[in-house]
Amino acid sequence: MEFARQLARKAGKLLAEKFSRHNPVYYKGTIDLVTEADRMSEDLILSEIGRRYPDHGVLSEESKEKDGPSAMRWIVDPLDGTTNYAHGFPFFCVSIALEKDGEIVLGVVYDPMRDDLFEASLGGGAHLNGKKLQVSSVSDLSRGLLATGFPYDIRESRDNNLDFFAAMIVKAQAIRRPGAAALDLAYLAAGRFDGFWELKLKPWDTAAGCLLVTEAGGVLSDMTGGKWSVFSPGLVASNGLIHQQMLEVLLG
Ligand code: IPD
Ligand code: CA
Ligand code: CA
Repeated sequence: MEFARQLARKAGKLLAEKFSRHNPVYYKGTIDLVTEADRMSEDLILSEIGRRYPDHGVLSEESKEKDGPSAMRWIVDPLDGTTNYAHGFPFFCVSIALEKDGEIVLGVVYDPMRDDLFEASLGGGAHLNGKKLQVSSVSDLSRGLLATGFPYDIRESRDNNLDFFAAMIVKAQAIRRPGAAALDLAYLAAGRFDGFWELKLKPWDTAAGCLLVTEAGGVLSDMTGGKWSVFSPGLVASNGLIHQQMLEVLLG
């Protein structure tokens, strides 16, 4: 945990230093971009993991998956919220999780703009800068503040969350689209959001944030209420109390 904590802080510092300076942008798709900061943060994180734990596997957004002989695998998003970052909108984070035998055992989400370090360990609870986290107690969806996001293929695919968004916006108190899924999940763990859902997320978007949610007393499922895994195509996360109400809206 101390290693993950320090690594997230170091990478976050790098992102903060390069923030709002000219940062070249490269396009992976029509609207899906990557900045030099994504790559520098990833290089830093992967080289330190490689040095400290050479036999551990790694799954990280901008590089190829590396399998290791051991059952341990680090799941990393070196910059979650990259579109925000490229526009100078200060909502982004570093997300680092550790998986052991297929189970997430540790997660750290660091927001360098607010110096917010969210961390969770399996069975050890979730904390923000050392303070224990608990999900909210809102029990009525119409009083709930939700977060969601839209996939990068929003223009090409009909499976783009717009129909779910339209159905949910008239049932919840309000919905936000902050633009960094890992931080959205950390905010849910902290009781700042009451629920979250999104389609087509990747393991590096959700691994650390989802452990934060469950360790803070929240609930996860796939879009139909079934068991969620980092490879599930969709995620519904909540304080538990409004989970069924969210599923009813999503299932129509
Ligand atoms: C994205 C953000 C965004 C979510 C997208 C993700 P990136 O990650 O988490 O909130 O809606 O689905 O891909 O590209 O900024 O690392
Ligand atoms: Ca991401
Ligand atoms: Ca990313």
